[in-house]
Amino acid sequence: MDKTLLGGLSPRTFLRDHWQKKPLLVRGAIPGFDGLLSRDALFDLARDEDVESRFIAHDSAGWQLERGPLPKQLLKRPKSQPWTVLVQGLNLLLPQADALMRRFAFIPYARLDDVMVSYATDGGGVGPHFDSYDVFLLQGSGRRRWQISAQKDLTLVDGAPLRILRDFVPEQEWLLEPGDLLYLPPHYAHNGVAEGECTTYSIGFRAPSAQELGTAFLDHLRDRLCLDGMYADPDLALQDDPARLPPAMIDRVADILGAIRWSRSDVEQFLGSYLSEPKQHVFFDPPDDTPGLKRFAQKVSKHGVRLDTRTQLLRSGRHLWINGEAVDVPQGSAGTLAALARDRLLAAVPDHAGTLALLHDWYGDGFLYPGAHGD
Ligand code: SIN
Ligand code: CO
Repeated sequence: MDKTLLGGLSPRTFLRDHWQKKPLLVRGAIPGFDGLLSRDALFDLARDEDVESRFIAHDSAGWQLERGPLPKQLLKRPKSQPWTVLVQGLNLLLPQADALMRRFAFIPYARLDDVMVSYATDGGGVGPHFDSYDVFLLQGSGRRRWQISAQKDLTLVDGAPLRILRDFVPEQEWLLEPGDLLYLPPHYAHNGVAEGECTTYSIGFRAPSAQELGTAFLDHLRDRLCLDGMYADPDLALQDDPARLPPAMIDRVADILGAIRWSRSDVEQFLGSYLSEPKQHVFFDPPDDTPGLKRFAQKVSKHGVRLDTRTQLLRSGRHLWINGEAVDVPQGSAGTLAALARDRLLAAVPDHAGTLALLHDWYGDGFLYPGAHGD
């Protein structure tokens, strides 16, 4: 990892002192960085119906929010007015944005969410707010003034189309220049205002809520549930009122349901598939015609493979999950697949029939490509 990214802090020190605890400002975190795409390319993405985007403007009358795909007209609003365009999931669309996100791999992939890019005109921004997730705000082109606050009052403005803090009281502020980075833990109030046109890249993280985990886990469990027997009541007692649920029935059903058990290994299986599940709007593009296994093997033994930027490949011990599915790991493939999961590429694929057949299947699904360097 580059020494500059965390301003000379080791990832270990960052995790101990800052992660989920307190902000960190790093000047020159990525020297020479001034963004990954032009304003026009960003606007093209904002107009694409397969891309999640937002337009936000404000004036004395209040805030305006439009969700993408954004019409051309909106993107022609004069630069003399403050407005901003945000594009989510840039890492899924642009290999360079995926590479940017992977610079933060001192945090497990299971916690990485996406890269968002914003373009703003002078004075533009999304207003004072807080996020529920950790974020690294990396300044691209131009400059943005960030104000932050550890305030406990996180009351939002009533009726606004976006989440704006009612009483934002800045405690610290900095003007970020290209390549500067600001890390904020969850629920830290912040406000970024462009000084002239600018772009900002947010490397965001994910943390499911307890409710989300609970409902998703119960779905997972339901699909695998296998309970024997059925309700029986050979000792049924005569009761005065047939409309009354028999108390013995409640006890017996409580016993049946009490037999539902799960282990840490069920939780592991659930997490692997849940966290590697692609987001709703993600679709893979399988190649039009997949070469046969033999030709594929020849190619990748020399040139390796690379995961598609949309692919999520997670591992726990010898278990692997790809895009929501548990992988049936062939004998002798575990080491190679673990390296692929970690590095997201293999410079050369070993001559192993099971591994090659599996990678060939994944190629057919559009999950990976031959050529470690995108060739
Ligand atoms: C922005 O890039 O304007 C917003 C980023 C954020 O505040 O989370
Ligand atoms: Co924010």
